[in-house]
Amino acid sequence: MTSARNRVEVMHGVNLDQLGRRRPEHYGGISYRELEVRLVDYGRELGLEVSLFQTNHEGEFVERLHRLEGLTDAVVLNPGAWTHYAWAIHDALEISGLIAVEVHLSDIHAREPWRRLSVIEDLCVASIVGKGPEGYREALQRVKDELGA
Ligand code: DQA
Repeated sequence: MTSARNRVEVMHGVNLDQLGRRRPEHYGGISYRELEVRLVDYGRELGLEVSLFQTNHEGEFVERLHRLEGLTDAVVLNPGAWTHYAWAIHDALEISGLIAVEVHLSDIHAREPWRRLSVIEDLCVASIVGKGPEGYREALQRVKDELGA
């Protein structure tokens, strides 16, 4: 018997729990809780089982990646500012061996120069930026395609 590969963990890093209080010109007005509801809805529409994780602690983010093997089939991640310098997250994602898609609500390539580097980009099958919450739907669709779910 083959089991369906349709599990996706959506991981948010530092300061993403503060959505709704952050600069609306970059992040819109959506709160993190509202985003979570949308992510579950997107998953349901696509027939994916979405689990959610957020932390402001880099070590917790790394340890969650360590533990994901066997718990999920793919990961969609927005590590927040860690994206630009946290090589430990790059290494942990590599260790996980998971199919990964990167999402950023804002267009990191059209903002300050220091946001242009993503340390996880090379490990991701796609990087979706500047599309707001809708970008996560695209990311989940991409994951579904990769999994053949
Ligand atoms: C972000 C972009 C990052 O540069 C920033 O530090 C964030 C959010 C985004 O979703 O647009 O915290 O990842």
